[in-house]
Amino acid sequence: MSTTWDPEQYAKFADHRGRPFRDLLARVAARDPRLVVDLGCGDGPLTLGMAERWPAARIVGVDHSGEMLEAASALDEHGRVEWVRADLATWDPASLGAAPDVVVTNAALQWVPGHEEVLTRSAAALAPDGWLAMQVPGNNDAPSHALMRAVAAEHPAAERLQAPLSRLAVHAPAYYVELFGAAGLEVDGWETTYQHVLDPLGQQENPVLEWVRGTGLRPVLETLTDETERNAFLAAYDARLRSAYPRTSIGVVLPFRRIFCVGHRPEAVA
Ligand SMILES: C[S@@+](CC[C@H](N)C(=O)[O-])C[C@H]1O[C@@H](n2cnc3c(N)ncnc32)[C@H](O)[C@@H]1O
Repeated sequence: MSTTWDPEQYAKFADHRGRPFRDLLARVAARDPRLVVDLGCGDGPLTLGMAERWPAARIVGVDHSGEMLEAASALDEHGRVEWVRADLATWDPASLGAAPDVVVTNAALQWVPGHEEVLTRSAAALAPDGWLAMQVPGNNDAPSHALMRAVAAEHPAAERLQAPLSRLAVHAPAYYVELFGAAGLEVDGWETTYQHVLDPLGQQENPVLEWVRGTGLRPVLETLTDETERNAFLAAYDARLRSAYPRTSIGVVLPFRRIFCVGHRPEAVA
């Protein structure tokens, strides 16, 4: 089952969500790439940012969500990006017709079962002097996610909620560093915990709930199609999030750990 996305909800925290992407791209030293691919491009602003950074490059954004791609094309006023609808689990980089110089995937692979294969395939497809850059959230043990599982376990639909909640899976940073290295890339891996200050003006009841509604909570909400079941879940989860992430004098602080890995394929030696 694939998750349905709501571009409007996702875009509510666009600036916070864009920060890790910018930090990731800062470590990609490609100067004049011909072909740049964004795997799991979502609603497009970050992909379009790459079109600005590399104006001469052919840019391709791949995603399997019709809703996200529709929002992305609407943003792409000058038709700068080729938006491709495909499932990353089966998408073949050979379909590009040329070897990519940059492959980026930001906050997407945690949704793709067997995402290790996607990375291995992407690394193998890179042109000489090419770059592979990925970022995945490493927040599965954070209160936002632990409380989601705890509330689900106490909910009457606990059994039905098990599968959607166990879907999001990533590895420790060292795993990706080894994977990139084994694929013949020079590796630069790291992790960061961002301290996102949400809703400083106090306009949202529960900004952390709003945040996860746009991403990690989506599989739960889709499973709970009955309104009473859904409301019971949201009421319990809302209360527990509020005590885990209390409002402070500057807003609600959401610590968010993310895992990064950038690989560079050395140029072929003549
Ligand atoms: C959290 S959004 C990230 C979007 C964008 N990369 C960003 O950083 O804002 C995750 C995106 O991954 C896409 N996605 C998830 N699983 C996918 C799959 N199996 N194939 C293609 N896209 C997928 C979703 O449709 C969604 O647009």
